[in-house]
Amino acid sequence: FHSAIMENPPLVGIIGGSGLYKLDNLHIERTVNPITPWGPPSSPISIASLDTPKGPIKLAFLARHGPHHNIPPSAVPARANIAALKHLGVKAIVGFSAVGSLREEIRPGDIIIPDQIIDRTKGIRPSTYFDTTMVGHAMFGEPFDVELREFIVPLVKEAINTFPDHINPSDEPRLHDKKTLVVMEGPQFSTRAESNMYRQWGGDIINMSAVPESKLAREAELAYALVCTSTDYDAWRTDAAPVTVEEVLKTLKTNASLSKHITASILAAVHEAVESKQVATQAEGAMKFSLMTPH
Ligand code: ADE
Repeated sequence: FHSAIMENPPLVGIIGGSGLYKLDNLHIERTVNPITPWGPPSSPISIASLDTPKGPIKLAFLARHGPHHNIPPSAVPARANIAALKHLGVKAIVGFSAVGSLREEIRPGDIIIPDQIIDRTKGIRPSTYFDTTMVGHAMFGEPFDVELREFIVPLVKEAINTFPDHINPSDEPRLHDKKTLVVMEGPQFSTRAESNMYRQWGGDIINMSAVPESKLAREAELAYALVCTSTDYDAWRTDAAPVTVEEVLKTLKTNASLSKHITASILAAVHEAVESKQVATQAEGAMKFSLMTPH
């Protein structure tokens, strides 16, 4: 696959979260199974193509939890995932993730594009490419790529507006920008006391997946942004009627089709912005002043 892909590489990588295991709204050109020094990625990587007025463009798609959702958050091979996408020529990654809401105004079915992270993973996930032979400290004050994040916000907003299949047609999903994402270890959900503590800390949404993915993307000098789809109100809310499995599944399904619609809608613009070096320019070279070991 190597040379065929390298001639016209996918500049944009998409990582699908819970509910989003394939992009069946795009033409899948081929599937590749790269092996990295950190083992195989979560799933085979689909190279999908989208016809645009300027010719076909490609993207690389990876299912974070495996094609059949068999990899729990703590076991996602994030180093292999990021390395495999980088190897294919990807410069910018847009991840998707199901999240719980810590705020009344963020309703199930809404979309959130976070700009901050509170890391509550427990240090059991391999979360760096630096080992004992080389010491590096990536800057992480801005955990998401600022250029890519700001570029996709209006595009995602427009994609939401053109999405035909809302959970409730009279109640369109909202886009919440610049929110704080708490990333917890899991797999069990939070206690009510923890959920309330995260709210006091300033957390707006919660998931189990953005760390170490975002940290590794930074170390790999890839631009990384996350589009979150809200599925539930987590444990803090005592007044809401308990959610039923039926409701959650319906929300996950609608969120997945919205995520596919967003991917297809924003791809051409993101690809062009990466190609013309409008975005993903800061990410490249981000580690230049981060190495402690003489090199
Ligand atoms: N992913 C989806 N909902 C979640 C929640 N409430 N807590 C953690 N991760 C989640």
